[in-house]
Amino acid sequence: MNDRLFIFDTTLRDGEQSPGASMTRDEKVRIARQLEKLGVDVIEAGFAAASPGDAEAIRAIAETIQNSTVCSLARANERDIHAAGGAIKPAKSGRIHTFIATSPIHMEKKLRMQPDQVVEAAVKAVKLAREYTDDVEFSAEDAVRSDMDFLVRIFDEVIAAGATTINVPDTVGYSIPALWGERIRQLIERVRGADKVVWSTHCHNDLGMAVANSLAAVMNGARQVECTINGLGERAGNASLEEIVMAVRTRKDVFHCDTRIDATQIVPASKLVSTITGYPVQPNKAIVGANAFAHESGIHQDGVLKHRETYEIMRAEDVGWNANRLTLGKLSGRAAFKNKLAELGIVLETEEALNTAFARFKDLADKKREIFDEDLQALVSDEGYAAGHERFKLVSMKVCSETGETPHARMVFTDDGVEKRAEGDGSGPVDATFKALESVVDSGATLLLYSVNNITSGTDAQGEVTVRLAQDGRVVNGQGADTDIVVASAKAYLHALNKLHSKRERAHPQV
Ligand code: KIV
Ligand code: ZN
Repeated sequence: MNDRLFIFDTTLRDGEQSPGASMTRDEKVRIARQLEKLGVDVIEAGFAAASPGDAEAIRAIAETIQNSTVCSLARANERDIHAAGGAIKPAKSGRIHTFIATSPIHMEKKLRMQPDQVVEAAVKAVKLAREYTDDVEFSAEDAVRSDMDFLVRIFDEVIAAGATTINVPDTVGYSIPALWGERIRQLIERVRGADKVVWSTHCHNDLGMAVANSLAAVMNGARQVECTINGLGERAGNASLEEIVMAVRTRKDVFHCDTRIDATQIVPASKLVSTITGYPVQPNKAIVGANAFAHESGIHQDGVLKHRETYEIMRAEDVGWNANRLTLGKLSGRAAFKNKLAELGIVLETEEALNTAFARFKDLADKKREIFDEDLQALVSDEGYAAGHERFKLVSMKVCSETGETPHARMVFTDDGVEKRAEGDGSGPVDATFKALESVVDSGATLLLYSVNNITSGTDAQGEVTVRLAQDGRVVNGQGADTDIVVASAKAYLHALNKLHSKRERAHPQV
């Protein structure tokens, strides 16, 4: 059996389907560059038919990426395939990933199609996709609840029509490892032409088994795993890339295959995705959580000091911890700053954007002695929010918080360039800040989530705040970073309001 496991990253597509995780074109390009550095085989860059903006982001990624295949998702219909084909056109290596649901419940209730019509649409879509590229993936959505004989039939037919990768998704996260492995094994055994395609799996985490199910598929012959950084994705998320990669690498004795991932890029990728999407990583998350390599108990510390392998099966540095090398300091010049950004894959398109970012870097270097890669990523993200044509921008603020007194915030911000003043009281300084802003903006949005994380360690670190707002059924995440977490909170709130204001219309591929 082939010993190469292909990693298909869908952070920019399925990951982006997480509530509030939508990303701008530039943010997607930054993540795609990091995924390329990480060495993923396929980057699913989006769903081109969702909106012209989504197609444009895929195209920008296709123009930029050289060492990974760039893929667009497409439902099994002509319009979607044409949109996907157009978006991946500039790619050095491009793939179309077309799918249709195959379970009785999806065919009957969602598609309102007969099984024969589903097969016909799948075959037609694959044939049309092959007119754009030789690299065509077909997925049977909700394969987990699909009839085995029907799966065999549709896979037989799409392989004959030219599909080169067959993906078997557990769309609703329903399977368990023993059953999933067995399903993959039987499909490979029964489908005609199975040996001519790459078998893939795509597992959701609703029962917390996405990684275990994906690995069971690998043990039974799957040679592509679809996964996301930090396990981001619809509902409870997808299989997490870092866990899959490190499991097969650490337990080669069991899996007998490996990826081409440069594991030292895992932690930087995790931090970048978390900063851009506003989805913090839980401290006890495997591989990329802050505690993943921290030994708390005296017995463990003693053991690790005597011989690290007593309690460690992987080395922190091998997955990129401590890779956030000290970057720049107070005396670094503009050229060094620009070079460092380029090294991080960050391109600021105008001189004005570079000058503003450099001024903010100098400001940060005055407050914080050591500046790391993550600080620059956050600074540029923050600058991105402030630099575009956003409606609201923070000018200044003053917050008074004293024991026994009601916290009070005074804000100055601009609304389409017009200066506005706001004041508010709250139960704490952050509450007072949000109330002050709402007293003027009056968005009517509901605050769903507020979280603060330190970007690097130490009390002088920047705090990165995520604010999730909901308005009329739309959910957005806003982020802000600053050494003062109340200022970071105000920036995050305004960023979320700006996103609500932008009213981006897009279609969801699976609805
Ligand atoms: O979960 C799923 O089934 C998907 C498909 C589009 C592959 O995301
Ligand atoms: Zn999915």
